[in-house]
Amino acid sequence: MGRSDALLQKMTLEEKIGQLNMVAASRVVTGPGELRDLQEGIRTGRIGNLLNLWGADETRAVQRLAVEESGLGIPLLMGLDVIHGHHTIFPVSLAEACQFAPDLWEKTARVAAEEAAEDGVALTFAPMLDVARDPRWGRIIESPGEDTWVASRMAAAKTRGFQGRDLAAPNSLAATAKHLCAYGAVTAGREYASAEVSERTLHETYLPPFAESVRAGVAAIMPAFIDVSGAPMTANAKLLQGWLRGIVGFEGVLISDYNAVAELLNHGVAADLVEAAALALNAGVDIDMTSGAYIQCLPEALDRGLVTMATIDASVRRVLELKERLGLFDDPYRRGSPPAQAARGPDRRELARDAARKAIVLLSNRTAVLPLAPKIKRLAIVGPLAAAPGEMLGSWASAGKPEDVVSILEGLKAALPQCQIDHAAGVDIDGQEIGGIAAAIDLCASAEVVVLCLGESAGMSGEAASRTDLGLPGRQRALAEAILDLGKPVVVTLSSGRPLTAPWLFERADAVLATWFLGHEAGHAVADVLTGTFNPTGRLPLSWPRDVGQVPIFYNELPSGRPYAPGVHYSSTYLDLPPTPQFPFGHGLSYSRFALSDLRCKPTRVKAGDTIEVSLAVHNESPLAGEATLFLFARDPVASIPRPLLELKGVQKAVLAAGERTEVTWRLPIKDLSFVGANFEPVLEPGRFEIHVGQSADPSRLLSCAVELMT
Ligand code: NOJ
Repeated sequence: MGRSDALLQKMTLEEKIGQLNMVAASRVVTGPGELRDLQEGIRTGRIGNLLNLWGADETRAVQRLAVEESGLGIPLLMGLDVIHGHHTIFPVSLAEACQFAPDLWEKTARVAAEEAAEDGVALTFAPMLDVARDPRWGRIIESPGEDTWVASRMAAAKTRGFQGRDLAAPNSLAATAKHLCAYGAVTAGREYASAEVSERTLHETYLPPFAESVRAGVAAIMPAFIDVSGAPMTANAKLLQGWLRGIVGFEGVLISDYNAVAELLNHGVAADLVEAAALALNAGVDIDMTSGAYIQCLPEALDRGLVTMATIDASVRRVLELKERLGLFDDPYRRGSPPAQAARGPDRRELARDAARKAIVLLSNRTAVLPLAPKIKRLAIVGPLAAAPGEMLGSWASAGKPEDVVSILEGLKAALPQCQIDHAAGVDIDGQEIGGIAAAIDLCASAEVVVLCLGESAGMSGEAASRTDLGLPGRQRALAEAILDLGKPVVVTLSSGRPLTAPWLFERADAVLATWFLGHEAGHAVADVLTGTFNPTGRLPLSWPRDVGQVPIFYNELPSGRPYAPGVHYSSTYLDLPPTPQFPFGHGLSYSRFALSDLRCKPTRVKAGDTIEVSLAVHNESPLAGEATLFLFARDPVASIPRPLLELKGVQKAVLAAGERTEVTWRLPIKDLSFVGANFEPVLEPGRFEIHVGQSADPSRLLSCAVELMT
């Protein structure tokens, strides 16, 4: 008999439910009452899991209580939101998605895992895999962007990175894929609202990244707070049991979101906490995060016949097995060792800088003002995000500290020691005060170039931070227009957790960069790109809207019966704007210029089990070495159901010296052209498939070829 089963036989009901109970512990437990409750709960076995505690000493102290003073000595599982770094803070997830680089996604997760494990953490609530197409939703900042294929690659890379090769290793964390599912589709982008999503969209768009995380061995999954098509996810047995455990074969632990079990009362599907606890447990939710419903009410749910002991045991077994896999029974203190003993990865600040500069997207460079002239003597750096280290940490700072951040101002000063750099904020991020604009204008008088650092505060995106207005907050537009009116070259950096709508800015500024929230090395990374030390490679993982009225906006729409045609009244558009984005998915400039040609598919007549080779020529037409990013899309133009206009099937990068020409080749299995059938089985229909390759999803700039699938 395994350890989990042996333990189960000895456990009281209370001890069993304690293993399903996760309680929030602040890092420094302040109030004496709180401290007593926590200690008491751990000693009595009523608390089996904690979140929000880190630090070698802090975690060791509570672990000791569990191991040495509780009846069965079962170690605690300690979880934390280690999202885009722990001590070393990397770019926020949406920015990381711009890298289109699974190896880098894996590396940053690995370092985050190492650092958090050194602090005694064993579980992270990441990766977040919610496909997000509505920038009103603040959590788009935590997402991999709008595309399912990208989210799936992110799922695998982050899971590998956090969990390492061996979950029991002292530097590995159990990963939690979240939030299952369709959280990004909340009505009107409003946080915690319900989502109305068809079965097909669920299975084609929102669920595949979770299936991919399971294939990568993810240890835990968190259902979303929300109601999806009338079924609150915390009680959604059809998806959690039927699909996730039944079809995908997930055997790990399901952890509710924060207080979500009790919130089933607000959803209106439980009359009391006892029913809520029973609904969640029966749906397969093993751990109740913080609501207390399980520990308080599962005994009564058993008495009322709403749950069975077998269901409780199954959940307890899964939790114990996770603790076993993490090596906690063999050595409960294996995480939380002093840093010197832990295996150190590559230089973390260097990695953070590399990740940050690869996340920057050069949106426009209208007058080729960038890269800055090497001999530049005088710069003005203006705007409320120029010297805002705390904001650069983004939405989940974990243990990261603002004092460790290199601000944009500091980064530019370090990169250009011979240049006089003057700085003024001009306005606050979100205030109405415009008194500082005049001084900012004066400062620009003798500057050769103005770097205007605009955007949101970190708190304007993330959880509970939806916005109806996607423009620059506060009086930043007034500042920007006053500076643009000077007629000097203006380079704009946009620090934000979402695409910001500002067509007037894109029209007038000489160059604009999406710099998101880049973490500790933000300033150095921005300076690397502005000075040309690093030739930008970041690409948009979402369609950047012109106006909030266009959202949700994404490239892989289904065809319309009356497709958009400029100037045609009865076509799919708006009276006041075209339906096209400001910048398409995949957009991002380089200081080099690449031309694509000679797209070929080989063979062109195929059978279902075949793999085709898609190749094209890429030519660096510029005098500067650079990296091209190529997107391969497929389309099934005639099928039994309408298929999207474009579907991403692969991304490749090519590094080319000045003037170099190379060939890029994909091997694309024909089975990748299938769609989800009525019973969620893959369906591959014979006929012609189009293959399109380009540097973005802009349909007017794609090269195309076709393959014929024979019966
Ligand atoms: C609520 C958030 O939705 C979730 O993403 C997070 O992991 C938990 N809180 C724990 O902090």
